[in-house]
Amino acid sequence: MLKIAVFNFKGGTGKSTTALNLGAFLAKSKFNTLAIDLDGQRTLSFGLGLDGQEPTALDWLTSDEAIAPLTTSVKNLSLIPGDIGMFRLTAEADLFTSSLNGLMPLGYGVILMDCPPSLSVASVQAILSSDRVLVPTLCEPAALKGLSEAIALIRGENPDIPIEVLRTRYKPRLVLTREADDLLIESAADLGYRLLHTTIPENIQVAESIAQQQPVADYASSSSGALAYRSLTKECTKLWGLK
Ligand SMILES: Nc1ncnc2c1ncn2[C@@H]1O[C@H](COP(=O)(O)OP(=O)(O)O)[C@@H](O)[C@H]1O
Ligand SMILES: [Mg+2]
Repeated sequence: MLKIAVFNFKGGTGKSTTALNLGAFLAKSKFNTLAIDLDGQRTLSFGLGLDGQEPTALDWLTSDEAIAPLTTSVKNLSLIPGDIGMFRLTAEADLFTSSLNGLMPLGYGVILMDCPPSLSVASVQAILSSDRVLVPTLCEPAALKGLSEAIALIRGENPDIPIEVLRTRYKPRLVLTREADDLLIESAADLGYRLLHTTIPENIQVAESIAQQQPVADYASSSSGALAYRSLTKECTKLWGLK
C-alpha cells in the first residue's frame, strides 16, 4: 500500500487534476488504486462525478468504524470523496495512521491523497503518513518561490521523505518556461527533490474532462494531456517500484 500525498502550498497547480488522471491511469494499468479527496473544494470528487456522496474523507478520519470507499466509473479506481466541512478538522492527534490502517484489508496497491492548498491539519497529517510527496507546479519563475516554500514545509514535517516535482500546464514554447526549467533543474539538488522527466502540457481537453466528470483518458484518449498522464504513470510506476 504505497501512500502518496499530492501537495503544493499554492492553489491551481494541477494537484486535483493529477490525482484524478494519475489515479485513473494507474487503475487502467491494473493497480488497485484509491484516491482520497482531502480538500474541502472537492475538485477531485467532482471530476469523478461523486461530489456530495458519502462516506466522505471527514467520516473516514473521524469515525471509529471502517468505511467503504466508493467505486468510480474507472475499473480498479476507488474514491473517498471530499467534505466541505474539512476545515473543522482541528485535531492535534494523529487521525491518519489508524484510518489508513483500516484500509489495509481492502488491498490497495496505491493511495493518492489530494491535499488542499494550505498547510492544514489534513495536509500536514497526509504528508506525515505518506511514503512520498508529489508536488505539481506551474513552470514559471513566480511559481518557483511557492515551490521552494512548499518543499521547506514538507521537509519540516518529514525530513527524509522523497519529493517528486511535476511540471503541469506546461508551455514549452515560452522563454519564461525555459527560464523556470533551468531554475528547477538547478535547485533540485539544493532543495532535495527529483524533477520528473514527464511534463503535463497546457491542454484544453484536460480542463474540459473535469467539467465532463471523466478522466482525460476516457474523455479524449489521444489528446496531448492524456498521452502525458499516461507517460507520467509509466515514469512513476518505475520510480516508485510498483509491481
Ligand atoms: N494540463 C492542464 N491543461 C489545462 N488546464 C488544466 C491543466 N491542469 C489543470 N488545469 C485546470 O487548472 C485548474 C486548476 O487545476 P486543479 O487540478 O484544480 O489545481 P489544484 O488542485 O492544484 O488547485 C482547473 O480549472 C483545471 O481544469
Ligand atoms: Mg485541488
